[in-house]
Amino acid sequence: MKLVTAIIQPEKTDQITQALGSFGVQGMTISQASGYGRQRGRTQVYRGAEYTVDALPKVRVEVLVPEEDCDEILGVLILSANTGTAGDGKIWVTNVEEVIRIRTGERGKLAV
Ligand SMILES: Nc1ncnc2c1ncn2[C@@H]1O[C@H](COP(=O)(O)OP(=O)(O)OP(=O)(O)O)[C@@H](O)[C@H]1O
Ligand SMILES: [Mg+2]
Repeated sequence: MKLVTAIIQPEKTDQITQALGSFGVQGMTISQASGYGRQRGRTQVYRGAEYTVDALPKVRVEVLVPEEDCDEILGVLILSANTGTAGDGKIWVTNVEEVIRIRTGERGKLAV
């Protein structure tokens, strides 16, 4: 199992979640987030550090997927999230040890 986490532009949320739904994901978690990437951290280090950061609103989309679906999901995300502009977002993939459906006790792939 993999956990695909995508940090996306809030205004792309509907398009991206619909694209994932059409692909057939079984579920997803959507949360408000804020953060910055390469453009936002402004550092002036000159005898004592001054450091300002402007965190922008973002949306975090998390999807648990069987390993064999991961690449396709990444493709769907990249296609629907990319506008070619800075700030389009970032996606990362993490290994997941276990997933449990609370109601049934099912585990692993069956629980996704
Ligand atoms: N290294 C990182 N670690 C954790 N979160 C990150 C990291 N880089 C970006 N993010 C998250 O992703 C969001 C979008 O990042 P962003 O698309 O600006 O990345 P970038 O590396 O600056 O690429 P680009 O040059 O296309 O803007 C950030 O607001 C932040 O929430
Ligand atoms: Mg950026």
